[in-house]
Amino acid sequence: MNIQELIRQAFTAQKKAYTPYSNFQVGAALLCEDGEIYGGCNIENASYGACNCAERTAIFRAVYDGKRKFRAIAIVGKAVESESFDYCAPCGICRQVMAEFCDPETFEIILPRTEEDYKVYKLKDLLPLSFTGSDLGK
Ligand code: THU
Repeated sequence: MNIQELIRQAFTAQKKAYTPYSNFQVGAALLCEDGEIYGGCNIENASYGACNCAERTAIFRAVYDGKRKFRAIAIVGKAVESESFDYCAPCGICRQVMAEFCDPETFEIILPRTEEDYKVYKLKDLLPLSFTGSDLGK
């Protein structure tokens, strides 16, 4: 995996964020098992509950294109007025959506501040004891 390329694409996706309410702009780049990368940004709404996170935008775009297996996601986010990025962890809903499609043992969540400064977590560590399809007998 080319982590730097994934991080670059997350920063590119972040520029597309639609955030008139929070001014907090998030970008995600999702690496599919076949090597393709999908970008996603957060898309807000005047009815706040209808806001969609960057991670889910990327995952849903990929699933719409027929992808079901993913290796990693890079996530970057900051307030418009901030000059630099801090580590931006995925929210609980996005972790749950990752658990639907990603292997908790291998799927990597990459949290960059810059192209060189980043942390890497496994999904199993960010969402332990998750509720999944197997709990429903699927
Ligand atoms: N946000 C994301 O895009 N991803 C996350 O994991 C955390 C939060 C967005 C949602 C909302 O548009 C803004 O950040 C502030 O919560």
